[in-house]
Amino acid sequence: MLDGRRVLLVVSGGIAAYKSVILVRLLRQSGARVDVVMTASAEKMVGKVTFEALSGRPVLTQIWTDPLAHVELGGEADLAIVAPATANILARMAHGLADDMATSTLLAAGCPVLACPAMNQRMWSHPATRANVEALAARGVHILGPEVGQLAEGEEGPGRMSEPETIFLTAARMMRSGSPIAGLKVVVTAGPTLAPVDPVRFVGNRSSGRMGLALASSAWLRGADVVLISGPTSVPPPYGPRVVRVETSAEMGEALERELEDASVLVMAAAVSDFVVASPSEEKIKRAGRKALEVQLEAGPDLLVATRDLRTARGVLTLGFALETDAPLENARKKLDEKGMDLVAVNEAGKPDRGVGAETNQVTLLDSNGVVEEMPLMTKSEVAERLIDRLEDRLR
Ligand code: CTP
Repeated sequence: MLDGRRVLLVVSGGIAAYKSVILVRLLRQSGARVDVVMTASAEKMVGKVTFEALSGRPVLTQIWTDPLAHVELGGEADLAIVAPATANILARMAHGLADDMATSTLLAAGCPVLACPAMNQRMWSHPATRANVEALAARGVHILGPEVGQLAEGEEGPGRMSEPETIFLTAARMMRSGSPIAGLKVVVTAGPTLAPVDPVRFVGNRSSGRMGLALASSAWLRGADVVLISGPTSVPPPYGPRVVRVETSAEMGEALERELEDASVLVMAAAVSDFVVASPSEEKIKRAGRKALEVQLEAGPDLLVATRDLRTARGVLTLGFALETDAPLENARKKLDEKGMDLVAVNEAGKPDRGVGAETNQVTLLDSNGVVEEMPLMTKSEVAERLIDRLEDRLR
């Protein structure tokens, strides 16, 4: 994801410095080169060798070892991350001090800066820190956290550094800007919808939501403003998108109408129930005295059809799915036309390695211009990346 990107990681002296070790690993695993600079107090928390081993690069701590290193490092980085950012380093950054390797490098950095504060809650709420953070934010420094929770000294409050995974995803999003999808509102639907039979029972389907969640995450990582409308899933939603939880197809329809008002892109990955229970019971249906239970199903709303006029009026670029068992391309082409989609990803139903409920997927993408692209079997995250690439092509 971050092949060829260069990250400058400034570690200052907070106890959360140990979490930055994991951040280095995540950045490296995704292909980024990481140069670590530590303050003198950071070295009291975590050994320099640990960061050297994980980054595979020398860790810089002293300005006098190589007097021009701070200018070079700052100039070459695509992103500077300060994690943890103590009250002290935030104050020094806010005032433009350059009294050690860390602050000199940050002052020489022309790239975006992501600061992840970590400190005692009273230090965080002190007017001096507030003013410093406001000044930095006004200058364009992206402040992530701190999170509320248990602090090192046993107190509870805002002061915990964000988790390495959260910092990593935020950093990736900052570095992957420049996508035509960045800044656009993208609505993604995911998961199943349920048709209630009574207050406890429902008719549902096997959708895990994974494909939709991966698409939402991929669009968010490219800078889109993503709203994820999700039916009930056991897979946790990705970090980033705003999540709207729904249960029934009617609720998903209402959420869609609302969110599409100012959207530019719709990705319809939800397995919306085609049939809903005609008259769900308000009380729990008792078993006693029954040999069988007949449940009458009737056609529910088709959400793509229902939103077609709204999408056309607003020019919403739409990617949908088609789950097919026979004549997949023919059926999918029909769905594309009838439901007003720009792109449709065709899935084969009934195979364990693809489609509903699986961890991997194989899709063939059809577009309204007649182009057909058969994609290989991949993880759902990989499929999502490729599909968002195609949406980007269309936006260009
Ligand atoms: N879809 C929808 N509303 C429904 C059913 C499906 O908006 N009630 C959307 C899906 O999210 C998907 C596309 O329509 O993007 C195609 O879904 P699919 O299940 O393949 O097709 P159906 O329209 O349900 O048709 P059929 O079951 O007859 O194949």
